Amino acid sequence: MTDSDKKLRVCVIFGGVSGEHEISLLSARSILAALDSQKYAVFQIGITHDGVWITGDDILTALSDNQLNGCSYATLLADPTRAGIYRISTGNVVEQLELIQKVDVVFPVLHGTFGEDGSIQGLLELANVAYVGSGVVASAVGMDKGIFKDVMRANGIPVADYRLFSRRETKEDIALVIEESERLAPYPLFVKPANLGSSVGVSKCHNRAELLQGLKEAARYDRRILVEKGINAREIEVSVLGNEEPIASLPGEIIPADEFYSYDAKYHDDRSQLIIPAPLNEAQIENARELAVRTYKAIDGAGMARVDMLLEKGSGIIFVNEINTIPGFTQISMYPKLWEASGISYTELIDRLIGLAMERKAERQNTTYRYIREKGAK
Ligand SMILES: Nc1ncnc2c1ncn2[C@@H]1O[C@H](COP(=O)(O)OP(=O)(O)O)[C@@H](O)[C@H]1O
Ligand SMILES: [Mg+2]
Repeated sequence: MTDSDKKLRVCVIFGGVSGEHEISLLSARSILAALDSQKYAVFQIGITHDGVWITGDDILTALSDNQLNGCSYATLLADPTRAGIYRISTGNVVEQLELIQKVDVVFPVLHGTFGEDGSIQGLLELANVAYVGSGVVASAVGMDKGIFKDVMRANGIPVADYRLFSRRETKEDIALVIEESERLAPYPLFVKPANLGSSVGVSKCHNRAELLQGLKEAARYDRRILVEKGINAREIEVSVLGNEEPIASLPGEIIPADEFYSYDAKYHDDRSQLIIPAPLNEAQIENARELAVRTYKAIDGAGMARVDMLLEKGSGIIFVNEINTIPGFTQISMYPKLWEASGISYTELIDRLIGLAMERKAERQNTTYRYIREKGAK
């Protein structure tokens, strides 16, 4: 047995067909740098903007620099008896698959569409490979802001008042959509596509004209559109870690450089600040942490998630805004920073996440998938 046989084989997947492709590359760079090569044999799969899977020693750099000449096409098969990274060689007549690496655990560092929404998780379930983070349902519910809020309400967790509209409704009777939105709450109203991230397509609307514009904008990005009461709030975030018994970090606070935490405020304006820990009193801290864990459990979260909240100025009510099941993961991102402030280093966090993925897969083995009818049963 060689040394590398003893190491856990970790496959990090990054990039992806999502508006958050570039953020994923940044997260993956930090994770790859922190994975301990004494413990792990690490492999990389990159997914291009077009959804092409590629592999190689430093695919991350190749993908970041858009220098893909000479890299191999790759795939993962859904068949659990053939799980592993395959290279696809393109011949003149046929394409051939060649198993190049078996894998013990996959770390999907894919934010947003197809990565955080249960799609890739479904493939990994079929392949019966351990993977970091939430399963299919929690990922999908966490991604869809409308369903997520329904689940929150069903669990008595406060959320800002909202209404969900379809793109079709906005096309067929925009006047009615506006009327119903205005009935929800006084301006400002927030409009957002149900399934997106990074504030893409999110508008803060101060009047009817802006609402109309906001609805049109959101409808470009999704079939389902959410209109929400605007809360005059501080933005509080809590990191959650674990499977059956998740723990919550200290809360952090975002001070957006913009009127709200828009795409530019998130990624292009260095005046936006992360304050860690958030200056809150004991009761507020406990309230935020407890809400974060309840939120996580309500969607059946696993591994990790960052729960984002709105602490209303004046009333002090904490509304849960959203959950991110694959939060930004660079060294300076809120999720790992909050753990660092709570006593878990970046490297330890990654070790724990891989451990949780293995634990979850072991737990899955306790489920029987085949029903064998007992003899004599009616
Ligand atoms: N109901 C709301 N009240 C006040 N601010 C909001 C509300 N909804 C969203 N925001 C603001 O818009 C930002 C982006 O919205 P969010 O729902 O978090 O979408 P995304 O998934 O794109 O981050 C939030 O960080 C916050 O600044
Ligand atoms: Mg957000």
